[in-house]
Amino acid sequence: FDQARAAHAQGALARPALARHALAKINLFLHITGRRENGYHELDSLAIFAPAADRLYVERTGACGGHAILTLKGPFGDGLTAGEDNLVLRAVHALRATVADPAALPDLALVLDKRLPVASGIGGGSADAAAALRLAAAAWGLKKDGLAPIAATLGADVPVCLAQRPARMQGIGEILSPAPALPPCAILLVNPGVAVPTPVVFKAWKDSGAPFRPPARLPARWDDLDAMAADLRETENDLQPPAIALFPVIETVIEAIAAQPGCRIARMSGSGATCFGLFGTEDEAKAAARRLAVREWWTEAGALPDDTAF
Ligand code: C5P
Repeated sequence: FDQARAAHAQGALARPALARHALAKINLFLHITGRRENGYHELDSLAIFAPAADRLYVERTGACGGHAILTLKGPFGDGLTAGEDNLVLRAVHALRATVADPAALPDLALVLDKRLPVASGIGGGSADAAAALRLAAAAWGLKKDGLAPIAATLGADVPVCLAQRPARMQGIGEILSPAPALPPCAILLVNPGVAVPTPVVFKAWKDSGAPFRPPARLPARWDDLDAMAADLRETENDLQPPAIALFPVIETVIEAIAAQPGCRIARMSGSGATCFGLFGTEDEAKAAARRLAVREWWTEAGALPDDTAF
């Protein structure tokens, strides 16, 4: 294993056996509907997946024991550490712990190409953990149907990222049901370069004394983007006001997105600071992304994957 570690440290994997895109998760709305005794909040949220992703690669090293090593690269790789607390390794270890004879499992070398900003409300770490579960299960020849309960132990957003398809999230995020059919549209993501700690924003929401909300009423499908935007305007991201109070630049970002030609709705995702805009066409979203790629702002735009892509 040490030999493999040394070889691995010298460069990226030569021929990765397995690879997966860990897509950014966007909360189109997020209502806080209750609070559990353990401090977690109950939610009603509609999650979709944007065409922006980290990439995770996995290779068997040739040794056995079910150990894993991780190398980070990519534009946001410096924002993380590759130690045992990294969600990718925690996911692999959690999967290993469910196996009767882990000593027989091949060791794994993983490379995470981190292209999504860290602590940014788009579930990057959760998506990486979900991708790690899938790739490690594939590398070890394990069934995929045992992964959802493991995902739920790794974080509230990991189950939806494991499914990686549009879903209604309830409970603390782990109770998933199908999303309304989405119309064709494009999405713009903008992150102003501030890392936002999720627990801090939830606590600020609680301290604000805001009331719990009822679940949203959603149709079975939206025929066009205007109908969807009209319904979304009846919803909110409850974490947006406390996040703006902590990081006022988030409001600047939302206003900048909303002012772009063709933008139907602009809002913050998750606990921030990434905000999104929905557009009718990919060209409009991409033009807006180019205009807003100023200062340390990160932007990404593209058409939403349609249902057949999942
Ligand atoms: O589950 P995860 O580690 O992603 O959550 C990070 C933090 O966000 C939790 O420790 C908790 O403070 C807060 N959280 C919450 N309610 C949720 C999800 C997250 O209060 N449904």
